Amino acid sequence: MLQAMQGRKVKRMLDVGCGGGQLIVDACLRDPSLTGVGIDIDRNAIAWANDLARRSGVADRVEFVVGDAFAPKTWPAVCTESRRSVHDERAARALPAW
Ligand SMILES: C[S@@+](CC[C@H](N)C(=O)[O-])C[C@H]1O[C@@H](n2cnc3c(N)ncnc32)[C@H](O)[C@@H]1O
Repeated sequence: MLQAMQGRKVKRMLDVGCGGGQLIVDACLRDPSLTGVGIDIDRNAIAWANDLARRSGVADRVEFVVGDAFAPKTWPAVCTESRRSVHDERAARALPAW
């Protein structure tokens, strides 16, 4: 994923099923201008992800929220904002409509 992002001028990423948040945190550590949102159905995973972000010093650029990937109409607004920022048209089309 991180390799695929290279050269695409990605500025904001959305990780659906983010688990403990490692992917977004690693991406933010590589790119100081990147921001991201992670969503996961598991509250414990979101707590771990927020803790990882704090410990890694990127908490000001990432947000981890609880939500069901298959119910995008119920996602917190911050995820919708991420969708508007999708830079890859194919990825944007792959996301569910809401
Ligand atoms: C393999 S982990 C993903 C790890 C993460 N994306 C990464 O690359 O480091 C899969 C995650 O999907 C989450 N998940 C499973 N069903 C889900 C659903 N319906 N909505 C949101 N997250 C879900 C699980 O809780 C788990 O944390």
